[in-house]
Amino acid sequence: MEGKVIAITGGASGIGLSLAKLLAQRGAKLSIADVAQENLDKAASTLKELVAGPDHILTSKCDVRQLSQVQDWLKATVDKFGKVDGAANLAGVFGKSSIEDLEEDLWDFVIGVNLTGVMHCLKAELKLMGKGASIVNAASISGLRGQAGSGAYCASKHGVVALTRVAAVESGSKGIRVNAVAPGYIDTPMLDQAEALAAKGALEQSVVSMPIARRADPEEVAKVIAFLLGDESSFVTGAIYSVDGGWNV
Ligand SMILES: NC(=O)c1ccc[n+]([C@@H]2O[C@H](COP(=O)([O-])OP(=O)(O)OC[C@H]3O[C@@H](n4cnc5c(N)ncnc54)[C@H](O)[C@@H]3O)[C@@H](O)[C@H]2O)c1
Repeated sequence: MEGKVIAITGGASGIGLSLAKLLAQRGAKLSIADVAQENLDKAASTLKELVAGPDHILTSKCDVRQLSQVQDWLKATVDKFGKVDGAANLAGVFGKSSIEDLEEDLWDFVIGVNLTGVMHCLKAELKLMGKGASIVNAASISGLRGQAGSGAYCASKHGVVALTRVAAVESGSKGIRVNAVAPGYIDTPMLDQAEALAAKGALEQSVVSMPIARRADPEEVAKVIAFLLGDESSFVTGAIYSVDGGWNV
């Protein structure tokens, strides 16, 4: 990662922040985008302590639902660092509702951030990137199977799987790799939110039935994303890496 420029959406919290910390320690230059200004400021001060040089970090407020904001953020990244070697498109939101009761607003919000947002990022990133670049998207176990009460979320993550595969097919000849991670239960603010919306004890019951019967630390996902961003995964593209403790076996 030494000297590589990596752009991360959703980098102010959870898996994105954990990835940013890991890559900072490995010598990367980071451009972090997030819609949450307060968390972005906190992340900036934490990451400034970890990056190799005082000038190795850029943080930008950006709503991935807006293509122009994504383009402006990536332009600012290239203006500052001169290139983009890798991107992790991790910004995401959760929403809970049965399909019968699904409100249009919730559908638009979840699809807008999780699916349209990833499309905006891919569209802008692929234009800027060249040979040797690598992109990792956040899918989910919900992108690989149906889960009750998660129609919008599952649809958005199945869409991310599809976009990842199409982008990999379209970009292989340019030397750009595109993969996704499909996390299971990862201890982040999003999981806290999902647990609060679920029936009491339901999430814990599901956790104990998994082959590795625990929630993961976000760093356990960050390490897989770092592998996919780096040169050690040079022949891996179009892959959806489950990081779910064997839940989807
Ligand atoms: N935590 C889990 O158990 C889990 C499981 C499977 C998949 N995922 C996926 O991993 C990714 C990261 O999730 P997390 O658990 O770290 O969640 P998180 O809530 O901790 O972080 C998500 C970040 O995305 C940002 N964000 C939300 N909307 C945005 C927008 N419109 N534009 C820019 N940024 C926006 C939030 O401000 C937040 O900082 C998400 O895509 C999520 O769907 C998480």
